[in-house]
Amino acid sequence: MRTFQYGAALGVLATLASCSPKNPYIWRPARRQYGAQPVDSETLRAAIDSDALLAHARMLEDFAYRQPDPADRNRLMGGAGHNLTVEYVAGLLNATGYYDVELQPWSTLVPLGGNASFFANGVSQNASLFSYSASGNVTAPVVAVSNLGCAASDYPPEVDGAIALVSRGSCEFGQKSALAGNAGAVGAVIYNNIPGGLNGTLGQPRALGPYVPTAGISQEAGLALLELVSAGTEVTGALDVVSEIEFRSTNNVLAQTKGGNPNATLVVGAHSDSVAEGPGINDDGSGVVGILEVALQLANYTTTNSVRFGFWSGEEEGLLGSTFYVDSLSNASLAQIKLYLNFDMIASPNYFLGIYDGDGSSFNISGPPGSAEAERLFEEFFDSIGQNHTATEFSGRSDYGPFLDVNIASGGLFTGAEGIKTEEEEALFGGEAGVAYDINYHGAGDNVTNLNMEAFLINTQAIAHSVATYATSFESLNQTALAKRSVGGANFRRSLHAPRCSPSCFGGGMQRRDRFRSTKLGVMYG
Ligand SMILES: *[C@@H]1O[C@H](CO)[C@@H](O)[C@H](O)[C@H]1NC(C)=O
Ligand SMILES: *[C@@H]1O[C@H](CO)[C@@H](O)[C@H](O)[C@H]1NC(C)=O
Ligand SMILES: *[C@@H]1O[C@H](CO)[C@@H](O)[C@H](O)[C@H]1NC(C)=O
Ligand SMILES: *[C@@H]1O[C@H](CO)[C@@H](O)[C@H](O)[C@H]1NC(C)=O
Ligand SMILES: *[C@@H]1O[C@H](CO)[C@@H](O)[C@H](O)[C@H]1NC(C)=O
Ligand SMILES: *[C@@H]1O[C@H](CO)[C@@H](O)[C@H](O)[C@H]1NC(C)=O
Ligand SMILES: *[C@@H]1O[C@H](CO)[C@@H](O)[C@H](O)[C@H]1NC(C)=O
Ligand SMILES: *[C@@H]1O[C@H](CO)[C@@H](O)[C@H](O)[C@H]1NC(C)=O
Ligand SMILES: *[C@@H]1O[C@H](CO)[C@@H](O)[C@H](O)[C@H]1NC(C)=O
Ligand SMILES: *[C@@H]1O[C@H](CO)[C@@H](O)[C@H](O)[C@H]1NC(C)=O
Ligand SMILES: *[C@@H]1O[C@H](CO)[C@@H](O)[C@H](O)[C@H]1NC(C)=O
Ligand SMILES: *[C@@H]1O[C@H](CO)[C@@H](O)[C@H](O)[C@H]1NC(C)=O
Ligand SMILES: [Zn+2]
Repeated sequence: MRTFQYGAALGVLATLASCSPKNPYIWRPARRQYGAQPVDSETLRAAIDSDALLAHARMLEDFAYRQPDPADRNRLMGGAGHNLTVEYVAGLLNATGYYDVELQPWSTLVPLGGNASFFANGVSQNASLFSYSASGNVTAPVVAVSNLGCAASDYPPEVDGAIALVSRGSCEFGQKSALAGNAGAVGAVIYNNIPGGLNGTLGQPRALGPYVPTAGISQEAGLALLELVSAGTEVTGALDVVSEIEFRSTNNVLAQTKGGNPNATLVVGAHSDSVAEGPGINDDGSGVVGILEVALQLANYTTTNSVRFGFWSGEEEGLLGSTFYVDSLSNASLAQIKLYLNFDMIASPNYFLGIYDGDGSSFNISGPPGSAEAERLFEEFFDSIGQNHTATEFSGRSDYGPFLDVNIASGGLFTGAEGIKTEEEEALFGGEAGVAYDINYHGAGDNVTNLNMEAFLINTQAIAHSVATYATSFESLNQTALAKRSVGGANFRRSLHAPRCSPSCFGGGMQRRDRFRSTKLGVMYG
């Protein structure tokens, strides 16, 4: 267990508060008020104001912008701006004395770049790299794989010692690379199933087996090769992949109320990291600030249930921190969690007020029992304050995914990313139809000026409402379903983002580089 440098974090705060004119807000640690009144929605909401949200957001922006090297002006997992974020959040929550604050360390592999080339009978196939591929330079016959290469039985014995030629489709690229390796292939080439070239990510290496050097080629190139191979023509492939990967360490922050019944725990989460392209103030500085401010205000009140705030690292690299956290819990600890609430992007400039579609009524993907009730709680809240709202897909593509995978009910809010606002949404929420909800999504412009403060405040009040409600009682969740539920275990979805892997599961050929650069990942699926 590492020790958190409490003094250092406060030093940072003091410096900023005194020398930065745009940040007039100075946090005063809560006095411990045990015996204070029980929390309720109205009082907790009244304690939330825009100035505090803005001040925290400016702090996060500054953690990125104060980095001397322009390439570091972000809050990328494990980078300097991100580490300051972790210290800031942990320091403020710890200073209340109301929470048990823990830094949860974990490590992961991060792809840094590289390149791939693939020649068939001496002709370049214009290959692209897959992130997380193994490195290697191999020359071997090209052998076609049956079907889509998603099952071990698709790989004929001739693949042994050869370069496997596989179509995109149906399963993850990583599964194809690992199955090719299991069948003895020395490399894999995946061709697109739509016109054009193909690149993407194999995802973190997993229990399926180590990856082989893997490259992507266009549908045209792939089908031409397939035709040759199927006609019995011998095709010799020369595959050369340079794939740079680094082992990185980082921390989740966990803050749990000292009071309240731990057998009935609410977990509230947001991701502390950004992509490399910018400071990530909407994605997900907004969620971090929203739950942080609610947590700080909650410290003035008592709760019946236990509340745990989680600040997950590595969301942008594939939900890594939240997956690590869920994996770290025993079944008994998972059973204590009655509900998980996630807040990832709650202040998009061209926002909608989106609620995760926990009942599946809009997108036909529902969550574990309790998720529908969580959706309803937010719907009723927005109704009560006269705000329109809409459902947003419950796809599992943020940190609630790992919770769904172990059958924990989940809910949350979202104001939109790269999607385009519709006319209907313009009528409901204002803003501009035909324009992205967040034009700066994963870009350099995702800074404080990108925030919509109205959405930020409304959503943080909604967080306060949900925290106050569930900190008091889980009565509104289906008690029959809660009593019957079993949590834990690994299901199919879970296997998609198991993060733990040592360099050895990489199958050799790993190269390292000192500097930490962009880790933006591509598509993962067929
Ligand atoms: C709640 O806590 C904050 C932070 O410590 C403090 O500034 C504020 O005055 C407190 N409010 C009440 C009503 O106790
Ligand atoms: C950030 O913290 C992690 C975990 O402690 C550490 O491994 C890493 O070197 C730190 N990054 C920087 C830039 O100091
Ligand atoms: C919290 O603060 C105490 C001192 O008040 C310190 O001993 C402890 O290490 C801190 N923990 C974290 C995780 O910040
Ligand atoms: C391949 O990638 C390595 C590492 O990123 C780089 O040094 C090298 O210049 C690249 N080669 C080409 C031909 O792009
Ligand atoms: C590779 O790219 C070049 C230049 O765009 C093109 O002329 C050639 O046909 C491509 N080769 C294959 C196999 O797609
Ligand atoms: C890869 O292997 C080929 C054939 O053995 C060789 O000509 C080429 O120089 C090698 N590439 C590198 C970068 O070593
Ligand atoms: C990967 O594919 C995308 C979309 O087809 C393309 O824009 C991008 O340039 C490609 N990247 C590489 C490194 O080939
Ligand atoms: C929590 O549950 C455990 C196991 O069922 C029980 O022993 C313990 O007394 C419970 N604690 C509270 C505060 O209800
Ligand atoms: C909600 O939507 C209706 C219908 O489009 C609109 O008239 C109303 O102004 C909206 N309310 C708010 C608070 O934006
Ligand atoms: C925030 O991003 C906008 C848009 O890219 C840019 O014009 C502005 O300078 C940035 N703010 C700061 C403080 O750098
Ligand atoms: C509550 O859950 C039980 C068992 O899972 C189910 O049969 C029942 O229909 C649910 N009730 C409501 C109101 O959703
Ligand atoms: C945890 O629960 C799951 C499903 O309820 C079960 O499959 C698994 O075996 C349990 N694990 C342990 C260690 O009991
Ligand atoms: Zn995000």
